[in-house]
Amino acid sequence: MHVVVTGGAGFLGARLIHALLAGEATLDGEAVTRVTSIDLAPCPVEDARVESVAGDIADPALIRRALGEDTVAVCHLAAVVSAQAEADFDLGMRVNLDATRGLLEACRAHPKRLRFLFASSLAVFGPGLSQELSQPVAEAVGPRPRSSYGAQKAIGELLVNDYSRRGFVDGRVCRLPTIVVRPGKPNQAASSFASSIIREPLAGLDAVCPVDAQLPLWLSSPRAVVANLIHALTLPGESLGDWRTLNLPGITVTVAEMLEALERQAGSEVRSRVRFEPDAAIDAIVASWPGGLDISRPLALGFRADADFDAIIRAYREDALTS
Ligand SMILES: NC(=O)c1ccc[n+]([C@@H]2O[C@H](COP(=O)([O-])OP(=O)(O)OC[C@H]3O[C@@H](n4cnc5c(N)ncnc54)[C@H](O)[C@@H]3O)[C@@H](O)[C@H]2O)c1
Repeated sequence: MHVVVTGGAGFLGARLIHALLAGEATLDGEAVTRVTSIDLAPCPVEDARVESVAGDIADPALIRRALGEDTVAVCHLAAVVSAQAEADFDLGMRVNLDATRGLLEACRAHPKRLRFLFASSLAVFGPGLSQELSQPVAEAVGPRPRSSYGAQKAIGELLVNDYSRRGFVDGRVCRLPTIVVRPGKPNQAASSFASSIIREPLAGLDAVCPVDAQLPLWLSSPRAVVANLIHALTLPGESLGDWRTLNLPGITVTVAEMLEALERQAGSEVRSRVRFEPDAAIDAIVASWPGGLDISRPLALGFRADADFDAIIRAYREDALTS
């Protein structure tokens, strides 16, 4: 069985491809035998079963060529991330919105009803939700984004739902929490600091936190997110019912609690490498995201959350040792 992964060179895409080929996903009882990555960059997964197509997902011809007779699913992870989509409106619209619609159209033209997994974000929510509701944001609360990235993801979610309702695809929309700890270098996501304030101090480097210490964040480890994406892909579509959008499980942790966990895990000297320098532009984006979501439906469907933030740091350090 063949799966297409857009953004297969990215942080999550490469990990998802690895998990797909490690046999973690069976679709209708069959294992994944080949994967096509479509990304501007080459896919780093070294495996003969991976075809790495370097190109723009906004190119419909490229997408058509990638879909084969044995294709059963498309995992759509390629995106222009939050701060970049805010800085370059046209690029964000072209990649995050127009290309998503183009991809859905290509799936619609496929003879089979393909599974379509879409990586959305809690950026679809607007400011003040957690504070207004003073409780986790319920699934029924609709999107009211306050960033171009959030708007593009929200429209993408609605399109996947409508294409599913029409029977054009078998869609699954996962609203991902902020993922920490992301290895490597900072990226252009507004939430990039959430990884930096753990990763850099552990590597002996200084890090800057641009938001208030009391800001609650909705977080997940890469391990939990990839396991949840695989689960979303393999679930029978009917179990999701009419509404194909899920808030993937995360945990609510304030920046101060993250740093306390860092100190518990690595000592006060490591924790002292983080200094606070408020950045109004980053704060405006990140503080508009809810710090907690109601995940009763995803938990009942078998999705899982990390135990706590200490476990997230431990998993990062274990993965760093083995990679
Ligand atoms: N990491 C997070 O915390 C997080 C949180 C919420 C949602 N998401 C979503 O999850 C998905 C994956 O995130 P990630 O952290 O792996 O991001 P990433 O930036 O590591 O990967 C995205 C990939 O998309 C590719 N890409 C961008 N524009 C492209 C284009 N025009 N054509 C082809 N490829 C293109 C990039 O080259 C990159 O490899 C994204 O859709 C993102 O919006 C991530």
